[in-house]
Amino acid sequence: MTQLTLPAYAKLNLTLDVLGKRPDGFHDLKMVMQSVSLHDDVTLTLTGGTGIALAADWGFLPTDGRNIAVKAAEVFARATGTDLNGLVIRLDKHIPVCAGTAGGSSDGAAVLRGLNELCGAGLSPEELAKLGEQVGSDVPYCVLGGTMLAQGRGEVLTRLAPMPACAIVMCKPGFPVSTPELYNRLDTMKIRCRPNTDGLIAALEAGDLAAVARQMYNVFEDALPVHRANVIQEIRNTLIQRGALGACLSGTGPTVFGVFQTQAEAQAAAKELRETYQETFVVQPV
Ligand code: C5P
Repeated sequence: MTQLTLPAYAKLNLTLDVLGKRPDGFHDLKMVMQSVSLHDDVTLTLTGGTGIALAADWGFLPTDGRNIAVKAAEVFARATGTDLNGLVIRLDKHIPVCAGTAGGSSDGAAVLRGLNELCGAGLSPEELAKLGEQVGSDVPYCVLGGTMLAQGRGEVLTRLAPMPACAIVMCKPGFPVSTPELYNRLDTMKIRCRPNTDGLIAALEAGDLAAVARQMYNVFEDALPVHRANVIQEIRNTLIQRGALGACLSGTGPTVFGVFQTQAEAQAAAKELRETYQETFVVQPV
């Protein structure tokens, strides 16, 4: 086998709490992660050429070691002693870039999983997740996927009861966010409201979608500058007015998502939001 294509799923944060800053500059987190059906397609080809090359359908992505997909291949090669000369990584992007939905981390995780299979390295999913720590904070989660509690830097993972079936509308407004900048802002402010992560986990265990949606919360919602927070609030209002059981910011944003009982309600909300925000998707938990 010389070629393999894998889906790289987007993730949403059902909760995100920042517990404090660590001596290594990262932050201790407590968050519930959920992978959803929106995905990039990652194709790995062993061509017999030289070096590691990246081909992406979005021209403005870096194509060297600054790209998380290339970094993942380099980490895999170092850890397993595999010669990856001639590897071409092709990214067909569908997950919005810099959106708080782990598009890059998920591509990196797919590269780790794909190379493991393509090269017959035989690493377990847990070993691949461990390698992912060297690639990025969200990569270990993206290797394993599903519904997970993530703690520490994001790498201490506990599998949770799956999210009940539902339709989710993801909506990404057009403004950019800087993740390090938002973490810095949080460091200088008092966090007034935190998610009830344990309550949300109990709701997952009970299979109670409405209680899950009601308890979704992300501390970064309070760290956004007012004019950005207003846009988030506007999207949330539309989602709730259209019947969402709850709505929340994902990661450091700017993607907001709403959880719906039915596909029809989700499609109607997405149609309305798409008039203003092109990058609006209806997805399911996976
Ligand atoms: O690990 P990753 O490269 O995805 O992190 C991007 C940035 O997010 C870090 O440089 C850091 O500023 C912030 N971060 C953090 N604590 C975490 C995860 C990310 O401070 N647990």
